[in-house]
Amino acid sequence: MKVLVVGGGAREHALCLALSLDPAVEELHCAPGNAGIAAIAHLHPLDVRDPAGTAQLAAQLGVDLVVVGPEGPLVAGVADGVRAAGIACFGPSHAAARLEGSKAFAKEVMASADVPTAASRVCTDQRQVAGALDEFGAPYVVKDDGLAAGKGVLVTTDRDAALAHAAHCERVVVEEFLDGPEVSLFAVTDGVTVVPLIPAQDFKRVGDDDAGPNTGGMGAYAPLPWAPSGLVDEVTKTVLQPTIDEMRRRGTPFAGLLYAGLALTSKGIRVVEFNARFGDPETQVVLALLDSPLAGLLHAAAIGTLREHPPLRWRDGFAVTVVVAAAGYPEQPRTGDPIAGLGDVPAPAYVLHAGTAAHDGEVVSAGGRVLSITAAGPSLEAARDAAYAGVTEIQLDGAHSRTDIALRAIRGEIVVPI
Ligand code: AMP
Ligand code: GLY
Repeated sequence: MKVLVVGGGAREHALCLALSLDPAVEELHCAPGNAGIAAIAHLHPLDVRDPAGTAQLAAQLGVDLVVVGPEGPLVAGVADGVRAAGIACFGPSHAAARLEGSKAFAKEVMASADVPTAASRVCTDQRQVAGALDEFGAPYVVKDDGLAAGKGVLVTTDRDAALAHAAHCERVVVEEFLDGPEVSLFAVTDGVTVVPLIPAQDFKRVGDDDAGPNTGGMGAYAPLPWAPSGLVDEVTKTVLQPTIDEMRRRGTPFAGLLYAGLALTSKGIRVVEFNARFGDPETQVVLALLDSPLAGLLHAAAIGTLREHPPLRWRDGFAVTVVVAAAGYPEQPRTGDPIAGLGDVPAPAYVLHAGTAAHDGEVVSAGGRVLSITAAGPSLEAARDAAYAGVTEIQLDGAHSRTDIALRAIRGEIVVPI
């Protein structure tokens, strides 16, 4: 099989790595890729939000499957463009990607499908926002309706700050605060059949102990030793399958990766958000533990034969990833700094590149999240120690990482309210 991966972050590096290990993959391409992906795939320049350009590149390369990584291209209709050219594509259509592209739309689908989520109000002016803030009370949750790379959400006890955040957005969703730990659960789907992967946890805030602003994600681990037994089955039954059935019923079937961001609250499981693609950095840890060949799974989802796919196999143990972010991330990341020590990361840890570029034979930072140092191990502690041993080797001026990825889980401090 010849495969083209669209995107160029750590998620795409993890996807390319898993695909490169699949014996069925004879040729691997990535567009635009990054300095790390260049070692395992042929890179091509591409405007990833251009459906016709992506379809043309896929046809030129003669690939059998296109895998679209980020949300931007999906919302822009890249999967539609590729499929219109008669090429199998892993990733939802423009219409189905609205599950991520509009928080208000996602809320409407959940209401129709009886999927449990936070109570919410869609607001288009400050008077409505003020009313909704007072209805739900503090802590206040205010979300930009559109795509914001994980940075459009403000959770605060400061009512003025909540109002100010809303003033920056055209349309906002104000919602009830959800208590309880968060879980990311991914499912591969062809629009009918749903195959859940393993649960992971992401760290969204920039600083230790969840201090500072939200980011795209600073680290992750999987699986979750504290998760209630039966969690995956329950989420599949009450969240994933009903959502997929509702999207099909609406005539906009969702095929690709459905990412459920969940909170395990005192009132039960609640959906925090849906994403229409593999999450970053959770993908790095989930794929580190996937033992089944990835290309066959994604191809089956793309062509509608997931029901016949053999059950997934998982490696024993745990995986941890720690993001190395550039100086100034998330507000104003600095780019163009040289990165040293990439070759010194000791096994079992390995480096997945996010925002990197090759410049005069040197690898330099080219984005806010620069690297994702990943390791698997027999215990969560072993995986965590290995990942941080890797982080220590990286030299990048002004770089910062969280030091507490997976720490509370190891200490047994995560409590699921019942
Ligand atoms: P989202 O982009 O919707 O995933 O929101 C980003 C992050 O904000 C989530 O991962 C949560 O940590 C937090 N968040 C979002 N919605 C809520 C909520 N209703 N209650 C508490 N925290 C929330
Ligand atoms: N890990 C959060 C996201 O991918 O949106």
